[in-house]
Amino acid sequence: MLRDISHVLISEERIRKRVHAIGAQIAADFADSLDDDSPLVLMPVMTGALVFSADLIRHLPFKLKLELVAISSYPGKSMASKGVKMASELPKDLEGKHVLIVDDILDSGHTIAVLKSLIEEQSPASIKVCVMLEKQRNDGPPIVKADYIGFSIPDEFVVGYGLDYDGYYRNHPEIVTLREDAL
Ligand code: IMP
Ligand code: MG
Repeated sequence: MLRDISHVLISEERIRKRVHAIGAQIAADFADSLDDDSPLVLMPVMTGALVFSADLIRHLPFKLKLELVAISSYPGKSMASKGVKMASELPKDLEGKHVLIVDDILDSGHTIAVLKSLIEEQSPASIKVCVMLEKQRNDGPPIVKADYIGFSIPDEFVVGYGLDYDGYYRNHPEIVTLREDAL
């Protein structure tokens, strides 16, 4: 696996510090709006958000529920979105709750846009978006904005810390680019 790496964009140490800081920011922002009638539902988008959300939730010191959603937009070896497909059902009891969507990376924004509009139909108290990475795309900004962003990265294909290529490299602890011969 290590021989497939071209260069390290973000080290483990930088990730760890940034996740801590985002957690603190979310904790402060939500502290006054959560109560038993309007709790926080944290919604990681599987599978890319698995590692980030596992780290993030341990910095959030309040009652919350995890509701996983599965969406795929990069099936198999593709490196460009092939259209967004919901691969699981949304929970049906989001009315009045604060929903925080967590994803690995905001690229075109189509994934989050689809998910947000489906959640909105249920009249939640609020919807916020938290992503580990935002890609600075050569063809313009994403169609939705994230409320919390870990790092902005150049328009390159990256893996590690949950992000995959063909299902692999999610377990790598840094955010890296791959060598051409690994693609
Ligand atoms: P969007 O719908 O174009 O914003 O795509 C977002 C989804 O595509 C993310 O949830 C990721 O799963 C995937 N994705 C986008 N860029 C990358 C990348 O550089 N590496 C791995 N997955 C990516
Ligand atoms: Mg994803």
